[in-house]
Amino acid sequence: MIRCDDVKVAIVGATKGMGRALARELVGRGDAVCVLGRDAGELERSAADLRVRAATAAGGTPGDGHDRVATALCDLEDPDGFDAALQAAHDRLGGLDTVVVTAAMFATQDALEADPVLLRRLLTVDFTHTVLLCEAARRRLLARGGGTLCVFSSVAGDRGRKPVVLYGAAKAGISAYMEGVDHRYHAAGLRTVCIKPGFVRTGMTAGLPAPPFAGEPEAVARRVADALRRGTPVIYAPAPWRWVMLVIRWLPRWVMRRVGF
Ligand SMILES: NC(=O)c1ccc[n+]([C@@H]2O[C@H](COP(=O)([O-])OP(=O)(O)OC[C@H]3O[C@@H](n4cnc5c(N)ncnc54)[C@H](OP(=O)(O)O)[C@@H]3O)[C@@H](O)[C@H]2O)c1
Repeated sequence: MIRCDDVKVAIVGATKGMGRALARELVGRGDAVCVLGRDAGELERSAADLRVRAATAAGGTPGDGHDRVATALCDLEDPDGFDAALQAAHDRLGGLDTVVVTAAMFATQDALEADPVLLRRLLTVDFTHTVLLCEAARRRLLARGGGTLCVFSSVAGDRGRKPVVLYGAAKAGISAYMEGVDHRYHAAGLRTVCIKPGFVRTGMTAGLPAPPFAGEPEAVARRVADALRRGTPVIYAPAPWRWVMLVIRWLPRWVMRRVGF
């Protein structure tokens, strides 16, 4: 069990992409991190990397990182395992005050329209199961008097758009859920942080054409780590996407029907 009085964070989906960059950023800032994911081998590889970084951040030898990094199995496709996964993170960190859900599925609009089974799976993982996991985390954080719940939504949820109708619908649901939870439980001590990435170069976007303002996971991670400290309810990352989406949200429907983005 980890024994330290610092921030204790569980991150679901930290073996790759923005989740991995965030875990690295947080251990670099001295937080204790439990990496949750579905593949035991990937988890151990991530933990080994994080322990070296944690030890370096603490100015010690590599072995020191063992007391700041833990792992636990959690598959977003298996909601029956969510409570046990969070309990394992709590036990291994010696407490839990922040839960971050960054894991999700992505598929193109064409692929989802062509495959109802894939569509059902994505909608289930990216909305229903993500909300169930957040609800398990919310109950746990409120029971200890408060904490921070952070979820990665997407700019795709801000407006119905031709290339991301279905994935965007799931993310719109997540953004609405996070706003509602903020309104309902802020006074009880729960801080909600909804991350809305624009285009970020990770495995999820590999092979897709990068638009202007595409970002890197490390820069996003720094923004997210700051938002976790401040309890900022909504952040766009990279930052320019806030202004891009402000414009897109105000475009009239007849324009949205004609344009392709
Ligand atoms: N990249 C972008 O441009 C972009 C834009 C908008 C929003 N987002 C959102 O930002 C978040 C992070 O995206 P990313 O680009 O960093 O993704 P990524 O590089 O594909 O990484 C996804 C992570 O989620 C994990 N994961 C996937 N399915 C899982 C499951 N069933 N159970 C547990 N873990 C699972 C993966 O673990 P495995 O190793 O097991 O696969 C991996 O660690 C996602 O919510 C995504 O929708 C991304």
